[in-house]
Amino acid sequence: MAKSFYLTTPLYYVNAEPHVGHAYTSIAADALARYRRLCGEDVFFLTGTDEHGQKIEKVAREKGLEPKAFADRLVPKFKETWQLLKITHDYFIRTTDAQHERAVRALFKKLYDQGDIYKGVYQGWYCVPCESYVAENELDKTQKPPVCPACQRPLEFSKQDNYFFRLSKYQKPILKYLESEPRPVQPPMRCNEMLQRVKGGMEDISISRASFGWGVQLPNDTSQVIWVWFDALINYISAIGYPDNTQKFKQHWPADVHFIGKEILWFHTVIWPAMLMAAGLEPPRRVFAHGWWTMNHDKMSKSKGNVIYPKEAIARVGIDGLRYFMLREIPFGMDGNFSVEALSRRYNNDLGNDLGNLILRVLTMIKKYCQDKVPQVADKKSPVTQVLQKATHKMGQAIAQGMNELQFHTVLEAIWVAINQVNKYIEDAKPWVLARENPERLKDVLYGLAEALRIIACAISPFMPDTAEAIFEQIGLSGEKDKIKLPEGFSWGQIPSGVTVKKGKPLFPRQDD
Ligand code: MSP
Repeated sequence: MAKSFYLTTPLYYVNAEPHVGHAYTSIAADALARYRRLCGEDVFFLTGTDEHGQKIEKVAREKGLEPKAFADRLVPKFKETWQLLKITHDYFIRTTDAQHERAVRALFKKLYDQGDIYKGVYQGWYCVPCESYVAENELDKTQKPPVCPACQRPLEFSKQDNYFFRLSKYQKPILKYLESEPRPVQPPMRCNEMLQRVKGGMEDISISRASFGWGVQLPNDTSQVIWVWFDALINYISAIGYPDNTQKFKQHWPADVHFIGKEILWFHTVIWPAMLMAAGLEPPRRVFAHGWWTMNHDKMSKSKGNVIYPKEAIARVGIDGLRYFMLREIPFGMDGNFSVEALSRRYNNDLGNDLGNLILRVLTMIKKYCQDKVPQVADKKSPVTQVLQKATHKMGQAIAQGMNELQFHTVLEAIWVAINQVNKYIEDAKPWVLARENPERLKDVLYGLAEALRIIACAISPFMPDTAEAIFEQIGLSGEKDKIKLPEGFSWGQIPSGVTVKKGKPLFPRQDD
């Protein structure tokens, strides 16, 4: 059986409801999953929730609940949000699933039995919000108690008997991995960051915790639970059958892309590949770290109280409006500021003016000059529409390249370049003049415009699925969205003459601030 295209999001902590920062990782992964499906690939798209650890236990207790009961309340919020945002994951894993816990214990046992895990004493600092150990040389000692270099929150000191993973043993293989071509960690600056850090030295890490109980118990020592990161990372293989279902595992592993935020690079590009190497498994093919959404230039996060929830944004600009904004506004990999003004601006300009008006103009003209029907033409590839043919062809090429490089903003830019070329074509071709002076040419022009709309609907479909569907419906191809195949769908001359267009309501009614 051919290997699938396997992509993942991180598992979201269930300490609070997802905000647009979380939605970002899922929307990006979803756009890729949808695109790859349109390209005919067998896609497996995984997401889920990270439910163990001290942070979740603490929040649950504050609410007077057992951690599992607390997680059970939050998980539906994630599922509902992903449904609302039209996220098309194939599987939703919870780290409290019995199959996952079994996989975690199995991997722990394997590494322990072969000597890659050993018992020692951990003495040092721990960041509960990041669920991360902080090494002595990373501490900012000017603050008392010292704060986490990643999130700036106070650290906890602990001294306990723990189990350690021999991370240091994997320094050379990890360097080789990070330096391999094509580079598995992207964008390149993130890969370089990790290379520098690995070259600076890798120490063994504690992978168990003794001071609390909410986690997967060690198979050999019930006084400890497995460190939540060691536990959660294993989801990427437990969800595809590790260790029992080898056929399913082979079908999917290695992951083609792990989508993550930049703050969790070390876990995904150093610790995780080392765990896999120790288990005799291949590391992921690609890990892409995106940047942060900020509010007034501070990372959007629940603890700072500066979050926007998907529902709030959707109330302003709709589901596709939010999906479009997030992937267009900032280059994928960089940080960007989220503001209601920017959201409305993109919606009104790019969606309302550029795309919305284009659809409206084309449909109005087909209605007025061709009795609602895409005209019959002598030549579907008439030279009269060469400008349009070239524009959409170039767009198709840019999409293929941008999607390979996971540069979603360049893909959307390329689509909008095409949209604006089509708008300009209308100005130049002046169909309203042709209606009086050259009815044959008018037919070619309007056929070309309807065809351009079809191709644009194919192009935006991974990003704005509802809009793509609405365009198909309006150009008389209702139900065709589900039949799109790429890149074939980008080739010119496919819209049948004679289909009846249905001018509907404007897709993007103006939004005032
Ligand atoms: N539970 C860990 C991941 C374990 S994966 C084995 C975790 N969870 S998280 O809920 O804190 O973050 C999940 C994802 O949401 C990360 O990719 C993170 O970058 C993303 N975001 C959370 N806030 C964000 C912003 N403000 N901006 C962009 N992405 C952000 O880490």
